[in-house]
Parts: sequence; structure tokens; C-alpha cells
Amino acid sequence: MKERLNQIHDEALQEIDNINSMDGLQVVRNTYLSKKSELMQFMGKMKDLKNEERAAFGQFINSIKNEISEKLEHKRKALEEAKLKEKLEKEVVDFTLPSFSYQKGSKHPFQIIVDQVSEIFIGMGYDIAEGPEVELDFFNFELLNVPKDHPARDMQDSFYIDETHLMRSQTSPVQAHVMLKAEGKGPIKIISPGKVYRRDDDATHSHQFGQIEGLVIDKNINMGNLLSTLELFAKSMFGEKREVRMRSSYFPFTEPSVEADISCFECGGKGCKLCKGTGWIEILGAGMVHPHVLEMCGFDTKEYQGFAFGVGIERVAMLKYGIDHIRKFYTNDKRFLTQFVKE
Ligand code: DAH
Repeated sequence: MKERLNQIHDEALQEIDNINSMDGLQVVRNTYLSKKSELMQFMGKMKDLKNEERAAFGQFINSIKNEISEKLEHKRKALEEAKLKEKLEKEVVDFTLPSFSYQKGSKHPFQIIVDQVSEIFIGMGYDIAEGPEVELDFFNFELLNVPKDHPARDMQDSFYIDETHLMRSQTSPVQAHVMLKAEGKGPIKIISPGKVYRRDDDATHSHQFGQIEGLVIDKNINMGNLLSTLELFAKSMFGEKREVRMRSSYFPFTEPSVEADISCFECGGKGCKLCKGTGWIEILGAGMVHPHVLEMCGFDTKEYQGFAFGVGIERVAMLKYGIDHIRKFYTNDKRFLTQFVKE
């Protein structure tokens, strides 16, 4: 028996040496180590041996089995390494090939304006607030002093989702959200850039556009604070020489309400095509927060006052960059988009 076992050992090692594929490895493993293999069959014969012989014989078979196993494992690793090496050699990268060229993107003019305005107001200590674009009628109109039958709704009678929800027509409802959250305690200093939606369509109006809302609530706030804030904004945005004038206007949620103009940055106020000969360019709506709005939003009007303003993002960009049609912001024409670099 021992002789045959030695033969099996030698044959196995010889065959392992000759293996050159994973399939071959499996065949040899089955031949020598499966239950039905001759070597394993010898295990079954141990019971016929005398007690004193059995242990030594068992050890002998095991040592052969272990040696074959180890050799097979060795071979398996060698085969895998060879395979990897071959793969790596085949996959040589040719560094002389021309590379892809990636074009550097540029910021969208809409975002450039949002960033610039945000920077100016953050510099004055304002926080950035956000509100939902799908808004409750209650916030978009009612809390801003525009009840159901108010004629001011006509201008913003826009995209309703159901009886109570609409795509917000202005960023002003963020004022109400922020005030209610403050639970009657000032100060509040926020701006809120975002998208708004209206039934509008011409060269300067689109069904979707951007606004930046501003709100300040504190004790002893007056129109002077509003004017100086707008002046600082105008100078930072359109140049040191800009002046601001306020014209009386009407918004349901401010009293008094104003429209603010800046002195024309094209002609310096002399009158030109851009300012239609007036020397002034209308830039935003603003006013002192209406006492009724303050009250509805939980503020005591004897203690607190505030001002608010709303500015159109595309309008600022169109003025600043001389863009002639609002659609250009949304059509993603690279020739248009790459012209604007943040100064
Ligand atoms: N929400 C106004 C609009 O869309 C703009 C506006 C005017 C906002 C006056 C204000 C404000 O906060 O005080 O036409």
C-alpha cells in the first residue's frame, strides 16, 4: 500500500507541475483529492489495519494529501499572477494619444447677480432665508395684505396647483415665514433670492424669473434706513457714483410704498437710450412693512417697524450686462453664457 501511495504522490506532483490553466487545476484536484480519488479511498482501508499501524498510516496519507493541497494552492496563485501580468501588459496606456479637451464652464449671469447681491447684504449683516416655491395662497397673498377679492391679485394671478396652493408669484411670502418664525422678536435682517412664477411673457418678462426679497425688522426703523441701504446696494452693484431716488408707489404689504430708481450708469444722469432720456433707471420696489402685515405675522407695531424691498434678478443682470431679451437666460446657448465672468 505504501508503495502505491508513494507512486500517487509522485504522479500528483508531476501533474501539478504540468498544469497551465485553472481548468487543469480543477481536474488534478478532483483526481487526487475528491472523495472518490484513489488517495481518499485509502482512508477507507484504514479500518482493516491493526491498531498499532493505523495511526502511522493515517499520518502518512495526511502528509501526502497536505503536500498535494499546498502544491495546488501554490500553482493556483502562480496562475493568477501570470494572468494579471498578462492583462497589465496588454493594457499599456499610450500617453502619446491626444487627450480629451475639457472646456472650463462659467457661472450663469443669473447666479453671478445672486452671488454679488448676497455678498453685499451679507457684508451688511443680513442672513439668507429660503421659502417654498409651491406656496400657500395664505402666505403668497393673505398674510401680505392681499385678501381674496383684492385687485392686486390680478397682476399675479398665476399658476394654481389647487384651491390653496400656487407657484409663488413673488418672494415676498418669505417675509411672512421669517416673521412668524421669529415669534414677535426682532431684529430680523434677511434677503431671500429665489424663483417666482407669473403669467407673463415678453422681452423683459417670463413665466419664471428670479427675485431677491429683503426684510429688516427692528426697533426705530425708518425710511432713512431704507434709503441708505438701497444707496449702498446701488453703489456696490452699479458703481460708486450711483444715486438713488424714491418715487411714491403702491404695494399692499408696505406703507408707504416706493419704487426706487438709480441714476443711469450709462450716461451718468444726463439722459440716454438706456434710461430713455430721464437719467434714471427703475430698479426695485420697496417700502415700510405695513402695520397690518406686522400684526398678522406676530409683531407688536408699537415696538417694531421694518422695511422691505424686492428686486428682479434678471432685471439687474439685463441692466448690468446690456442683455436685450429675458429668454436668453433660459436657453443655455453657450455663446451667450460664456460672456459673463464674475468681476
Ligand atoms: N413683491 C413685489 C413684486 O413682486 C416686489 C416688492 C415690492 C417686494 C415692495 C417688497 C416690497 O418687499 O417692499 O412686485
